[in-house]
Amino acid sequence: MEADHNISNRAGSLDRGSGTLNRETLEGWLRETDEARLEELRAAADAERRRRVGEAVHLRGLIEISNHCERHCLYCGVRAPRREVSRYRLNSEEILACARRAGQLGFGTIVMQAGEDPGLCLEDLARTIERIKVETACAVTLSLGELSRGELARLRQAGADRYLLRFETSDRDLFQRIHPPSRRHEHRDRLEILAWLRELGYEVGSGVMIGIPGQSYSSLAQDIELFHTLDLDMIGVGPYLAHLDTPLGRDGQRLSLDPSRQAPVCVRLARTVVALARLVQPNANIPSTTALATLDRAGGHRESLRWGANVVMPNLTPPRYRAEYEIYPDKAGIDPVGVDSAGGIVATINSIGRTVARGRGDSPNITRRRESAPKPLQTEVSQ
Ligand code: 5AD
Repeated sequence: MEADHNISNRAGSLDRGSGTLNRETLEGWLRETDEARLEELRAAADAERRRRVGEAVHLRGLIEISNHCERHCLYCGVRAPRREVSRYRLNSEEILACARRAGQLGFGTIVMQAGEDPGLCLEDLARTIERIKVETACAVTLSLGELSRGELARLRQAGADRYLLRFETSDRDLFQRIHPPSRRHEHRDRLEILAWLRELGYEVGSGVMIGIPGQSYSSLAQDIELFHTLDLDMIGVGPYLAHLDTPLGRDGQRLSLDPSRQAPVCVRLARTVVALARLVQPNANIPSTTALATLDRAGGHRESLRWGANVVMPNLTPPRYRAEYEIYPDKAGIDPVGVDSAGGIVATINSIGRTVARGRGDSPNITRRRESAPKPLQTEVSQ
């Protein structure tokens, strides 16, 4: 085990033959409980974060544009069958007002997130993105679920820069169990969508939930390996938080594996996954997620930022809608003036000697990919 845990030999080199972080050693780290060893991991991830993406923390303004969803995901508080959720959808003017606010606050990015909402009009959304790109200097990130290739192409053409789609788990059986087909359609293959996003020129983000009932330590190790294989530009990970009014929240115990195999929902494991994500994919932008800040009220964003994260996403959704975007209970950031408000987050960042970044904060992967892309042939005659 001792040699397996050697991280001084540089991680992030899965394909460089050093063998320092392979599936088995990743699993070893996921199972690690020794505080001193975990501090070594944290320090390695923190150093790698500093080297690759620097000391400045990027703020992305999160706008939850619709909580309508036609999916039946077993874990999610805004799943279609939940009649008690009061549904809302922001119109273009409301979205634009939030985006302008992000610009005024100096944020370099806005993130538009929604459930899979058939009532969201693609053309309206495309025009809203166009207006945001004209009126602000913000990059636009989308997180709208499993769209078709054509829809993704249209939104990219409108100016969207980045897309987030978590694969949630690389265990296919588990994925299928927690994502039953809805009446209208089957789930699309998320790995295929991630490939489309890459082809379309988006910066690509994905991630997983940690501690899903039925998720083993070894499948979580495989998830982390996949972050590297997919060469992700953004990685979002957070603990699974049981919502008692969902099937998985009610019935999770029954689906859980033997405790020797089941990945637990705990702060320690969630932080470990953040650190390992940084080490396997060092140039990625990694947010301190709301789910982790919700589980770890005391450590909050401050600790995630010490464990490898370099991004925070303050919630800019109009306060009257925030409580309705309740994908899990007690979600942090609903209070517009508390520690998870934009002002509170800046104070937290400064308290650990870090600064707030300026600019869009593209992943350094983008520059690398542009430089290594084959140069276009010089044969086309310009008109
Ligand atoms: N606990 C934690 N994370 C959740 N998500 C959805 N429901 C939950 C939950 N109960 C996460 C999923 C999704 C993201 C938007 O929120 O990973 O991709």
